[in-house]
Amino acid sequence: MENNTTQRDAFSSRLGIIAAAAGSAIGLGNIWKFPYITGQYGGAAFIIIYLICIALIGMPVMLSEFALGRRAQKNAIGTFKKLAPNTPWFLTGWLGLVAAFVILAFYGVVAGWTMAYVWKSILNQFAGMDAETITNTFVGMITNPVQPIIWQVLFMALTAGIVLGGIKDGIEKYTKILMPLLLVIILILDIRAITLPGGGAGVSFLLAPDFSKLSALAVMQALGHAFFTLSLGMGTMITYGSYISQHENLGTTTMQVTIADTVIALMAGLAIFPAVFAFGIEPSAGPSLVFITLPNVFNQMAGGYFFSILFFFLLAVAALTSSVSILEVVVAYFDEELNMDRVKATIIAATSITIFGAILSLGNTDILGSIQLPFPVSDGIHDMNIFDWAVEFTDRLLPVGGFFIALFVGWGMNKEDFEDEVHHADHGKAAYMTFFWPIIRYLAPIAILIVFLNSVGVFNALGIKLG
Ligand code: TRP
Repeated sequence: MENNTTQRDAFSSRLGIIAAAAGSAIGLGNIWKFPYITGQYGGAAFIIIYLICIALIGMPVMLSEFALGRRAQKNAIGTFKKLAPNTPWFLTGWLGLVAAFVILAFYGVVAGWTMAYVWKSILNQFAGMDAETITNTFVGMITNPVQPIIWQVLFMALTAGIVLGGIKDGIEKYTKILMPLLLVIILILDIRAITLPGGGAGVSFLLAPDFSKLSALAVMQALGHAFFTLSLGMGTMITYGSYISQHENLGTTTMQVTIADTVIALMAGLAIFPAVFAFGIEPSAGPSLVFITLPNVFNQMAGGYFFSILFFFLLAVAALTSSVSILEVVVAYFDEELNMDRVKATIIAATSITIFGAILSLGNTDILGSIQLPFPVSDGIHDMNIFDWAVEFTDRLLPVGGFFIALFVGWGMNKEDFEDEVHHADHGKAAYMTFFWPIIRYLAPIAILIVFLNSVGVFNALGIKLG
């Protein structure tokens, strides 16, 4: 088991690394979640906080994950076992594996909705519908016991198909095609949105900050989302880091992936808000922004038929390159730690996650909707169905994972080893290391801890109000 490092599959090119890692980062988080939380938390002011979180906490944690994975040449759990043998640190990897399982379960369901919407758009089903009928179509779809599961199974089959091919001939090969395609589509949508008469209000919403709208809660959201959008806190970037060549400069890779992710999130905002404002619709719809608000927008837009297909196709592509990275976390573990061959590992992982996701999907329907579980959120304990429960649960797990990854690098691991990993491909010592250490040792764990405590309602219980 220990002597397989020489044949270990890996990315074959720099472009492949960027396509795969940016493909992981760029997903539903950028095109579905980022626009709606930006809408809810007030636009540009929220974006500024988000950018600070990305640069200050997100990038150091991403660099840490890449370096850990490349150092160990192992999956998320194997990495901790190898770098800190006979210590409980491997539990951090376990946390990631559990998170991967649950995230992919619900992610596959939401990605399935987007595929259903590609299909509905092709059939021109939204044409002529009023706002209420569009809402009912969405609610009707997700509360249907069969339809979302069929699409979810299809989506998960595509995900598994790519992961089956391995790193070079699977993930790298497909992300190198899909990511440029994604860029072209989003550019087309941006041009359409920005040139809409009245779209300027949407552009200012994204670019002109109104700090009176900012709240401590918005800061919490921003940091939480930084983890989700950069695929951090659950070993995805550890796993991908283990496939990055020794010649790559990990600081540069981190920078490129982060910039790509941020630019695409902003481009998604630019594709959505000008259109939303141009047709006089409220930007703060929440999770239903792309599934309910946008079909209304497309209905009124010249060429809406075409742009609607394009938009939901974009969403499905973005979701696919992310879901392969989540599945790879589980497959790499099965493959290396449980000695399964890749085909068997992929089939077992994808099947069990799909079944779990289908059960979560039934939580939105009459069949399992009556199961309401309590979950602690920032303003108290709420009952929710199992689908929402899983979404909230993973939102909490990522910061916990990030917390332990930061602690491990900052305090648990040999500092020289870490610096050697970051520097050995580089020419000399990276200047950013001066900032990196205080961030990874103090700032990141403390900031993450505060966000986590708030997210499970600790401040609320203590009577501290974060308006
Ligand atoms: N980053 C992806 C998105 O924005 C989702 C994702 C992929 C992810 N891998 C992850 C989220 C690992 C958290 C952890 O949609």
